[in-house]
Amino acid sequence: MGSKTEVRIGEVWDATKIGSPSEPGSGAVHLWQRRLDAPGAEVSACYELLSIEEQERARRFRVERPRNEFVLTRGTLRSLLAQYLGSTPQDIRFRYAGHGKPALEGESGLSFNVSHTNGLALMAFVKQRAIGVDVENVGREVEAERLAERFFSEHERQALRPLGGDELQAAFFRCWTRKEAYIKAKGEGLSLPLHQFDVSIVEGDRDALLATRPDADEAARWTICDIPIGSGFAAAVAVATREGSQ
Ligand SMILES: CC(C)(COP(=O)(O)OP(=O)(O)OC[C@H]1O[C@@H](n2cnc3c(N)ncnc32)[C@H](O)[C@@H]1OP(=O)(O)O)[C@@H](O)C(=O)NCCC(=O)NCCS
Repeated sequence: MGSKTEVRIGEVWDATKIGSPSEPGSGAVHLWQRRLDAPGAEVSACYELLSIEEQERARRFRVERPRNEFVLTRGTLRSLLAQYLGSTPQDIRFRYAGHGKPALEGESGLSFNVSHTNGLALMAFVKQRAIGVDVENVGREVEAERLAERFFSEHERQALRPLGGDELQAAFFRCWTRKEAYIKAKGEGLSLPLHQFDVSIVEGDRDALLATRPDADEAARWTICDIPIGSGFAAAVAVATREGSQ
């Protein structure tokens, strides 16, 4: 069992101006974002940083925009990891867990997770513990009630029910990003039933995981909070409260 240390979520840095960051200290979460509407030259530069497998994956995209977004996100992730580890982007090696969550090969102890949505990528880094992030473009109209019925827990649906209009849309995306960050931290994808845990929909909640089932103690093992990402987007991060789980 690892030690329990405070989790500190910092500001979001611009990943197009990386500099020479030091690895996060114990309990510190580093957050980076980048716009994904970059010129072709930047896409090409990022493409050159990818592994052969990633380049093949990029070529399999039929539509240019998601292809460019994948290339920019993965290339930027490689650049950031290289800066943290004193390596080069091309030398970064990933391994993939059962449901596809990427992690670093080797013993560096640096964990990361990535999310991208139309126009924006978000990357989070922490030492010695599991982490998940999600960013969503909130500009699009969503059928919040129908999606909530399908994906959210009874507690969450009840909390959303009195809301309407913009308030409902904002609370819906808070709920969605918090839930998604949690399943990404655990790495289990949708094999983790979404009704088996409740998140808060309250704005600014710094500890938004309310309940987990069937293991109620699981809720204390994670902290979930929003990321201040700027207008047009909603984002959340979930981090293990103890070191040792990655
Ligand atoms: C990968 C997954 C966990 C998230 O996918 P997504 O929301 O479309 O995509 P995001 O941009 O947030 O995350 C994708 C990134 O997460 C990482 N990732 C991939 N599999 C992952 C996993 N099992 N766990 C954590 N991270 C994962 C990768 O870096 C990936 O980037 P890439 O596609 O460029 O390789 C997907 O498998 C999933 O389960 N989606 C659930 C969607 C849903 O219906 N959610 C309901 C929310 S309440």
